[in-house]
Amino acid sequence: MNSKNNIHIEDSVEAAARAAADFWVECASAAILTRGAFHVAFSGGSTPKHLHRYLLMDEYRQRIDWSCVHVYFGDERMVARDHPDSNYRMLRETLLDHVDIPEAHIYPIVDDDLLISDQSPKSIQAIARNYAQTLDEVLPHDSDGRIRFDLVMLGMGADGHTASLFPGTSILNEDKRTVAEVYVEKLQAWRVSLTFPVLEQAYQRLLLVCGENKADVLAKVFTNLDKGDYPVKRFADMSDTSWFLDQAAASKLGES
Ligand code: 6PG
Repeated sequence: MNSKNNIHIEDSVEAAARAAADFWVECASAAILTRGAFHVAFSGGSTPKHLHRYLLMDEYRQRIDWSCVHVYFGDERMVARDHPDSNYRMLRETLLDHVDIPEAHIYPIVDDDLLISDQSPKSIQAIARNYAQTLDEVLPHDSDGRIRFDLVMLGMGADGHTASLFPGTSILNEDKRTVAEVYVEKLQAWRVSLTFPVLEQAYQRLLLVCGENKADVLAKVFTNLDKGDYPVKRFADMSDTSWFLDQAAASKLGES
């Protein structure tokens, strides 16, 4: 670990989620002030629910002009939008249904349940292609013509995956497409995910990682000794990247 890592270690999941919510509101306010809008890609999984709960509290909620917020997804499971495993459903239930973000500003990856009905590679590729096109149409482009999120929110799995960038999968080497499909053997399931290039060119990255089961890999992510394949490691030394950890997840940092 070195001074460049922007790591915030908090006593509990709640404290880490609150610190991440503070950072989220800062990013949103700055983007709305300087660029007139806040384009944010949300993470899936369960940990973000804690952060969403804070964003709904008056002390956070009242500091955001939600009409300027544009919502995207870092990755998605190839299930219907009302399926219990859907990241879209999770975000809808834990945030979107409780704040005034215009429906036109919400961009689900699976925008037509029919598309996923046959789970064929062709259909999944079409979903990835459609989402890449949507991002290209609605996201601001910088002077180099690159699309840029104001903030991408990410988590980490106990294997070191982030978004749906899983160890040993082809999507890790994707250097042209902004969105790609990936078949995750160990899940026996397709996923669609933002790729490293678009995650790296965002103005800011927020990683919220909590739980003892993440401690082993997190310690390896922040050490150069372990050459293991932990996709999240790409963000370990990246500037404009803020990590929010609870004590349990951080319990082995500096051991290795
Ligand atoms: C997903 C996420 C994934 C998640 C990690 C951590 O769709 O599952 O994008 O990358 O962030 O799996 O998940 P937990 O927060 O549930 O531990």
